[in-house]
Amino acid sequence: MKKANLIMLGAPGSGKGTRAVALCEVLNVVQVATGDLFRNNIKGGTELGKLAKSYIDKGELVPDEVTASMVKDRLQQPDTQKGFILDGFPRTIKQAEMLESILKELGEEITAVIFLDVPDAEIVKRISGRVICEKCQAPYHKEYSPSKVEGVCDKCGGKLYTRDDDKPETVLNRLEVFRKNTFPLVEFYEKKGLIVRIPPELSAEGAVSDMRKLSQELGLL
Ligand code: AP5
Repeated sequence: MKKANLIMLGAPGSGKGTRAVALCEVLNVVQVATGDLFRNNIKGGTELGKLAKSYIDKGELVPDEVTASMVKDRLQQPDTQKGFILDGFPRTIKQAEMLESILKELGEEITAVIFLDVPDAEIVKRISGRVICEKCQAPYHKEYSPSKVEGVCDKCGGKLYTRDDDKPETVLNRLEVFRKNTFPLVEFYEKKGLIVRIPPELSAEGAVSDMRKLSQELGLL
């Protein structure tokens, strides 16, 4: 059985978080989501949080060195030993190259890169209905995957809220930044034979069973 060191690649709102949470449940590995790590730092009022906020609020990327160093620290924690799902990292070719050196140092390698190929119109619908848990960051959608009790997280009972960077004007810039900086990673990883495409029609509700099937196909289960 192969070790599950996976990357979730896709535009903002394409469902990386939703699929990453499902994969963690199926494979019993940890999710390393750079957006969540930044939001936790913002909430905690750290220096990193203050710096990250100045970029996130505009829909821009946090500088590569800052992000890669945060990921390196996270990947050195013992809970990543069984495997990890990188959600939202890398987002530039430079970050991908930095990730290669980090993994080399740790004696690890990427097993597969899961690319969520979702059209822009669908992305806008997904982001405009999204709410997330303020405690565990689990994503919900008011229409497509609502929580059982409105405004309350099914998993931990936390309060659900709309992210500041989900405002329509910021979303458009995030999509632009994705096309310019992150989309070239599809070709980067395609050349390495690591890309696995997830079609947009797959529903959020079926995420766990779809990810179980995918894990079996990839030899991870
Ligand atoms: P981050 O938090 O990573 O945001 P993102 O990439 O913009 O992705 P999202 O969290 O918006 O969406 P998602 O793809 O996880 O979708 P979700 O599962 O929630 O980053 C935020 C910011 O931090 C960045 O803009 C940047 O500033 C900074 N940052 C982060 N990483 C960085 C890095 N590496 N370098 C530099 N800066 C970085 O799903 C969306 C909605 O759709 C939900 O409501 C969900 O319920 C619903 N949904 C999901 N799947 C489906 C489906 N199949 N059908 C219908 N609805 C669905």
